[in-house]
Amino acid sequence: MPTNRQILLDNRPDGEATTSNFKLVTTDTPALQDGQVLVRHHYLSLDPYMRGRMNESKSYAQPQPLGEVMIGGTVGEVVESRHPKFKPGDQVVGMGGWQEYSVVDGNAPGLLRKVDTTHVPLSYYLGAVGMPGVTAWYGLTQIIAAKEGDTVVVSAATGAVGSAYAALAKARGCRAVGIAGGPAKCKYAVEELGFDACIDYREHPDVKTMAKALKEACPNGIDGYFENVGGYILDAVLLRTNAFARVAVCGMIAGYDGAPLPLQNPALILVNRLKIEGFIVSEHMELWPQALQELGTLVAQGKLKPRETIAQGIESAPEAFLGLLKGKNFGKQLVELI
Ligand SMILES: NC(=O)c1ccc[n+]([C@@H]2O[C@H](COP(=O)([O-])OP(=O)(O)OC[C@H]3O[C@@H](n4cnc5c(N)ncnc54)[C@H](OP(=O)(O)O)[C@@H]3O)[C@@H](O)[C@H]2O)c1
Repeated sequence: MPTNRQILLDNRPDGEATTSNFKLVTTDTPALQDGQVLVRHHYLSLDPYMRGRMNESKSYAQPQPLGEVMIGGTVGEVVESRHPKFKPGDQVVGMGGWQEYSVVDGNAPGLLRKVDTTHVPLSYYLGAVGMPGVTAWYGLTQIIAAKEGDTVVVSAATGAVGSAYAALAKARGCRAVGIAGGPAKCKYAVEELGFDACIDYREHPDVKTMAKALKEACPNGIDGYFENVGGYILDAVLLRTNAFARVAVCGMIAGYDGAPLPLQNPALILVNRLKIEGFIVSEHMELWPQALQELGTLVAQGKLKPRETIAQGIESAPEAFLGLLKGKNFGKQLVELI
């Protein structure tokens, strides 16, 4: 059996996460038992939710245990199987974690899923045609309930989740407006992702200037907002909401290292009769097939052109992960393992 390099959570961050929170170890992969499958990971997904799991505090999911392999989505290839449904060479998506190989119970529901790479590259199953894409789909279709003529806005617009948003919104006849960090990301949002406009929040670093930029980009007001960031961007968006606007609260990355994110004007929730709803995409598995079908079709038709930032080798995962939390990624952040 091959040796396996793994990254463990060694200790919990105090404030900002650092590379010293992680530890790289080398182990042997165990011999397979009946029903088990050995997967060699080609790509590891790095996602902001992992920062929350590093803390001990109460959340919607259990904390990542210390001394264990960091949780994470993976795509790869079956190299050995003692399960009748999987054979060597099958391409699979799973939750193998920050390591080069995983031994998976082939009978456990939902742990390992075969994927077809004829029209969709393997790595996309961790991004646009995977959990992040479904997240954009869920917030836009189920909470914002986007309809023709709506103006819908998203923050972190060029990231893994945000980049699926414009294609989904345009398919529903909406005006799609993104918010992203820097001119290169905003240019890409409009020219490649199909946003009607994109606001560079670094040029608008306070509520007043951001609200002004939103007024220009959204002349008919905002009917739906998909929140990935939190803080003053949310304050500015709320100022521009129309009556009965919907806000899908997906993430608040600006606060993941512990910074407080106060809301300046909560009275707007009442004044504009807003619906504000948080969600966790993994609690809506029944809708994933429908979402994945639409996302896969958009990719195959060239209407959704996601971008990836790829770090090389398992040892680069901690640094790449910390970069993701600071916006150093441009599109879906992955680690390539072979
Ligand atoms: N609820 C769910 O089920 C669910 C599922 C998946 C993801 N999420 C959430 O969705 C959000 C996006 O996730 P993702 O995987 O697509 O990550 P991502 O957008 O690919 O990467 C994170 C991006 O956040 C932006 N960012 C980081 N710090 C920021 C700050 N202080 N202010 C403004 N923007 C900041 C950066 O983009 P810029 O350079 O443009 O600022 C960075 O590239 C995260 O909040 C994540 O937790 C939630």
